Amino acid sequence: MKVIQVKNHHDLGKKAAEMIISFIKKNPKAVLGLATGSTPKTTYKELIRDHIKNGTSYRQVRTVNLDEYVGLSENHPNSYHFFMREELFKHIDILQENIHIPNGLAENIGDECRKYDQLIQTLGGVDLQLLGIGRNGHIGFNEPGTSFENGTHVVDLTLDTRKANARFFTNLDEVPTQAITMGIKTILESRFILLLVSGREKAEAMSRLLNPNHKVSHDFPASSLHLHDNVTVIADTDALSMVYSIERRALS
Ligand code: F6R
Repeated sequence: MKVIQVKNHHDLGKKAAEMIISFIKKNPKAVLGLATGSTPKTTYKELIRDHIKNGTSYRQVRTVNLDEYVGLSENHPNSYHFFMREELFKHIDILQENIHIPNGLAENIGDECRKYDQLIQTLGGVDLQLLGIGRNGHIGFNEPGTSFENGTHVVDLTLDTRKANARFFTNLDEVPTQAITMGIKTILESRFILLLVSGREKAEAMSRLLNPNHKVSHDFPASSLHLHDNVTVIADTDALSMVYSIERRALS
C-alpha cells in the first residue's frame, strides 16, 4: 500500500485528479469506479476544471458507482445518482449510456445486485476504483462484519453511518436504512484502487489502517485493502495526525 501525504483537502483533490487524468490519457476507454460523499468532491471539481481548461475527454470512459441508497429515486437530492450528476457528470462530456449506478428503486433488489456484478464483468472489470473510508473503516457501504466474499449486495446501514450521513438530510429519520453496495470482493477485483482520506475525523481509521501491526479483519473492512497489491492512499495531514511518528517517517 503506497501512501501519498498532502497538506489538505484541496491538495488531495488536485493530486487525485492529476492521477485520474493521467490514467484516462493512457486508457481513454477506462472503467472508473466512482465514490460519493464529501471526500471526492474536490477531486471532481479538479476533473471538471481540467476538462474545461484542457479538454480532457470522457467520451469513451465508462463509470460504475460503488453504491446507492435503497428507496431513493434518481432525482432525489440525496440519491447518489443526483450527487454524481451535480458534482461531476453534467459538467463533463461523458455519455449517459456509459454511466452506471445501482438502481435503489429496483423491484427486485437481489436481481439488481446480480445484474450489477454481471455488468462490471461485461465492461471488463474496473480499471481504477476510487474509494473513501468511513470512520468505522467501511468502504463502499461494507460495514464492519461484512464478509470479504460478497459481490454487490444489499446492506443494513449502521446507526453510526446513518448519523454520519444525516448531515445531508433534514433529519436522521429520513436517512435510508439500506443501501446497495459493491462488495469487498467486487472492490478487490479492481485493477487499481485509489483511497482518498481527509480530515481529523478519519484519523483513527487511518492509524488503524496504516499500523505496521495491522490485521486484516472483518471488523475493519478497509483492512481488506491489504489483500490487494495495487492500492494508493492519498491522505491529508489531519487524516494522518494519529499515525505514529515511526510510520510517518516511512510515509515521508
Ligand atoms: C460513498 C461510499 C462511502 C464513503 C465513506 C466516506 O460512495 O461508498 O464509503 O466513501 O462513507 O464518506 P465521506 O467522504 O463523506 O467522509
